[in-house]
Amino acid sequence: MKKMNFKPETYLVHDGKKSHSKGAVVPPIYQNSLFTKESWDEVDKTFDDRINNLIYSRGHNPSVRVVEEKIAKLSGGEKAHLFPSGMAAISAAILSCIKTGDHIVAIKNIYGPANNLLQNYLKPKFGIEITYISGNNVEEFEKSIRKNTALFYLESPSSVVMSLQDIKGVSQLAKSKGIKTIIDNTWASPIFQKPIAMGIDLEVHSCSKYIGGHSDVIAGVVIGKKKDLDLIFVREFELLGAKTAPFEAWLILRSLRTLSIRMERHQKNAMVVAEFLESHPKIEKVNYPGLKSFPQYELGKEQMTGYSGLMSFQLRTDDLEKIKAFFNGLQLFQIGVSWGGHESLIYAPAISYLKELSEDQFKGMGISLGDMRISVGLEDPQDLVNDLQQALNLV
Ligand SMILES: Cc1ncc(COP(=O)(O)O)c(C=O)c1O
Repeated sequence: MKKMNFKPETYLVHDGKKSHSKGAVVPPIYQNSLFTKESWDEVDKTFDDRINNLIYSRGHNPSVRVVEEKIAKLSGGEKAHLFPSGMAAISAAILSCIKTGDHIVAIKNIYGPANNLLQNYLKPKFGIEITYISGNNVEEFEKSIRKNTALFYLESPSSVVMSLQDIKGVSQLAKSKGIKTIIDNTWASPIFQKPIAMGIDLEVHSCSKYIGGHSDVIAGVVIGKKKDLDLIFVREFELLGAKTAPFEAWLILRSLRTLSIRMERHQKNAMVVAEFLESHPKIEKVNYPGLKSFPQYELGKEQMTGYSGLMSFQLRTDDLEKIKAFFNGLQLFQIGVSWGGHESLIYAPAISYLKELSEDQFKGMGISLGDMRISVGLEDPQDLVNDLQQALNLV
């Protein structure tokens, strides 16, 4: 019988009939640290392909591998490696592309700890040079290239102001100059954006967001070509030892089964919420790539097939008491720093910045006290709108 090819909605649910041992409908958790062999010769043979064979669970484990294979297939990569956090995936990916003295061009609004890794760790410790750009056009990347530029680091859409980069254009430029590219694709998820098909070398995700989707697991993934992932395996993965536990992988496998329907629902709910906020007199502006008013709407439509649930907006007031009344007055949206789970969340970036910066520095960043970031979850969309409306009545 010829093996059928399944669409993502199907292979994320299962791999066809009896794909797991003893017909288990859900694969077991391989909670073992090593794999024993029958003989000297079997050990010898296993070591012929140390990168792929089952030897020791810091390298491979079947519970982890089944997830890596599904994510690689979904993203159009040849291989994927899971990591125990998004930051572990990001640091492994970046380290795999650079050496002492190299230059990185990065988007200025990337995820905070990824920026800290560049600025406060790689720069002082390894002499890495960094240029930050808005990333709004390819020319900006081109102008930033130096002799020692080794990497373009993208996050599109970014998780702070949802700004986009022209993924195809930047990848083409990078390839022509022998520069590696990494994109943090967490916002769109591998359902709505396929950066590898657009020429990106390494795609990273925080699986703690949409891929995990239930706010019960911290993990990350790097996806790319076999040659690049095999190098990461023997260096940044095995040597630094950041290995995902089998149970965490099993939770992600559970989550992958519903990823495409969750993303559809996040998109549907987020559109309802974004349109409500945009039309509300107490809202100054909404940053959501799915809105026609979003400055990069056309670029988003070209490179994404849908929009997730993360957006930011600005309350039309600078009165901190009123802003707090709104923030604390929400009944359904919970207050928290993460996003991409089943539950709706709100966070105010000013809370973090005001702790770290002086008032003048804060003003210089272009962030206002009334900026809010929300992660729209899977609840009934009208309930979400009603919650925002009743809290806005307090402003
Ligand atoms: C865009 C983005 N990338 C990466 C990460 C890091 O992921 P993790 O928290 O799984 O380390 C986050 C976490 O919030 C994020 O928002």
